[in-house]
Amino acid sequence: MSNKKILILPGDGIGNEVMAEVFKIINWMEKTKSMSFDISERLVGGTAYDKEGDSISDETMQVALNSDAVLFGAVGGAKWDNVEREKRPEAALLRLRKDLDLFANLRPAVVLDALAEASSLKIDLVKGLDILIVRELTSGIYFGHPRGISKINETESKAIDTQVYTTSEIERVSRVAFDLAKLRNNKVSSAEKSNVMETGLFWRNIVTDLHNKEYSSVNLEHILADNCAMQLVRDPKQFDVILTDNLFGDLLSDTAAMLTGSLGMLPSASLGPVKDNGTRAAMYEPVHGSAPDIAGQSKANPLAMIMSFAMMLKYSFDMQEDSQLVERAVQSVLLKGLRTADIKDGANKVISTKEMGDAVVEELKILSGN
Ligand code: IPM
Ligand code: MG
Repeated sequence: MSNKKILILPGDGIGNEVMAEVFKIINWMEKTKSMSFDISERLVGGTAYDKEGDSISDETMQVALNSDAVLFGAVGGAKWDNVEREKRPEAALLRLRKDLDLFANLRPAVVLDALAEASSLKIDLVKGLDILIVRELTSGIYFGHPRGISKINETESKAIDTQVYTTSEIERVSRVAFDLAKLRNNKVSSAEKSNVMETGLFWRNIVTDLHNKEYSSVNLEHILADNCAMQLVRDPKQFDVILTDNLFGDLLSDTAAMLTGSLGMLPSASLGPVKDNGTRAAMYEPVHGSAPDIAGQSKANPLAMIMSFAMMLKYSFDMQEDSQLVERAVQSVLLKGLRTADIKDGANKVISTKEMGDAVVEELKILSGN
């Protein structure tokens, strides 16, 4: 039996198309490396709502809980805009995060040399950029109570969301950020709004205490989240690891993503706590969404999905070499000037989703001699 149980959830929109390209890589690996993945595939998002009555069924959730890793495509689309909140496509994503306790969301923003010109910033500001956003993913305003909309009187109503963090929630995600910084350029920038928010001040104090106690060898700076957003577009290379909460992480990671030229390039990993047997729940997904406007046209860029699979090899299966092989194959394809439409500046040739997947597999063959 393989110990690599993967649940594949392609989802909606371009999710299916980009996931199909990952299957090509999985097939290639199984064929050439005499290894096997134990794969289940199920519905999620709007597609699951249409067929199963909920954006993620309890059964699928059970399969996720029993898997070593989940590979997630994308969910959502205008078609489900009027569905009640608990059954909306996005609710599936939030349930997976919460029920698998995926508290640490890693969003690397790396500018590959071949794509430096695709950024909206000047090339010297972004060339060689390599930053990592560590976003808290299971708490904060996304999940805090009380929340809801209620009536005050005949004419007035009110809406409440609650931002709440506990000591241990902040400590565990900070540890992930500090540990990863040690393997990189040894710097953590912790972003919050301690100038206006109680949770911001609390966040800053907890991070400071943990740093003093366990991580004083890592360079730590505190930065206000609004300033962080500004600095990201002014001088992004000043950052190494950015540590932040759920909501600010959502915003800052989209900003950081765009520095790289296209959302279609960026993978992410969401990790749970390490269990007694050394494993941890994990989910890997591209940062981009379901892009209904281009779905079904083979225009989508599958590289973020493919790089998410590479992150899975690295973080869930300790297959560093294979992970790097996939990343190198992606870079070689780009260096040859092959591009999907979203990154077409500087392209020798604009190719389809399927052709991009094939090109990556071709490069894998060349690089590995198989
Ligand atoms: C993300 C997305 C999600 C979020 C949505 C789809 C719920 O924007 O993963 O960044 O807000 O976390
Ligand atoms: Mg987002």
